[in-house]
Amino acid sequence: MANQPIYILSIESSCDDTAAAVLQNGKVLSNVVARQEIHEQYGGVVPELASRAHQQNIVPVIDVAMTKAGIDKSQLSAIAFTQGPGLMGSLLVGSSFAKSLALALNVPLVAVNHMQAHILAHFIDEEGFDKPEFPFLAMTISGGHTQIVKVNSFFDMEVIGETTDDAVGEAYDKSAKILGLPYPGGPLVDKFAQLGNPKAFAFTKPQVPGLNFSFSGLKTQILYFIQKNVAINPNFVAENMNDICASIQYTIINILMDKLKLAVKETGIKQIAIGGGVSANSGIRTTLKETEKKYGWKTFIPKFEYTTDNAAMIGIVGYHKYLEQQFSDASTTSKARIEL
Ligand code: KG4
Ligand code: ZN
Repeated sequence: MANQPIYILSIESSCDDTAAAVLQNGKVLSNVVARQEIHEQYGGVVPELASRAHQQNIVPVIDVAMTKAGIDKSQLSAIAFTQGPGLMGSLLVGSSFAKSLALALNVPLVAVNHMQAHILAHFIDEEGFDKPEFPFLAMTISGGHTQIVKVNSFFDMEVIGETTDDAVGEAYDKSAKILGLPYPGGPLVDKFAQLGNPKAFAFTKPQVPGLNFSFSGLKTQILYFIQKNVAINPNFVAENMNDICASIQYTIINILMDKLKLAVKETGIKQIAIGGGVSANSGIRTTLKETEKKYGWKTFIPKFEYTTDNAAMIGIVGYHKYLEQQFSDASTTSKARIEL
């Protein structure tokens, strides 16, 4: 029994991606995501449409995940699902499906906190990727979240800083929208930024005490800056796209790095793990790597498919909760907001 592999089927449906994965212990056998392109035409996620698309996608996505994993459902040890935080209508689709399947297969149900999962994604067994040692600092940067967390052990985490308004991904996407770029604009701003001069235009950083963040002021600053310059030269954006993006990126990275440096100073912890969609950003990756030589930090960036919303990260938490027998019963409810 001790050496029997543990197979976890995990389901993630907190926002606009319907995802399923199968893990064998800490190893990912399959990791499938159905992205909902419908939201692009609205310039952001429409909750009502997201829930409907989850209902359409969930069965085929789980089917593909099981087929790719090459195991039979009778081999599953447990079903893990995202309990929250997220959009209620989206969460309900995943949790209802997970509960029914666990009941039908007579296996335990494991409720997973999405924010814990972004952090514990670093513990997926993946060749070429080291795992952080406890305690470490985790910075989750995505379209919905911006947090710095002190991670003492798998299930002992403490949020030591977070955004008081927009998430960093939102700052990217809203800036991109002002520049006339399609949603989600973060990757495009990053692409143009790599060709521009980061010091071409100066944006001021918000003055937020401690380890908290604020990004809404930056967005307003960029809006006024663009309006002012377009009034003088209607082609200002097109003529300066690379420099504008580089300057925005430079400011955002500075904001993130200032807080990380303060977190290191306050905690004395020099192991930094990042996660969330914005950790794909080329500037953040380069700047973080530089800190290894500059300040003696050790930094961890997961494989790309485990940074954006995915079910493998739900599965790795499911596996560790399974080992600790942390199960939920069928009366467990989804939670739009949930503490770490
Ligand atoms: O984690 P994620 O896929 O979804 C959630 O928000 O939960 O993150 C998506 C966010 C979007 O705001 C997107 O613009 C941003 O990540 N993003 C980037 C880059 N790639 C994705 N932002 C800046 N640079 C990138 N390369
Ligand atoms: Zn997420």
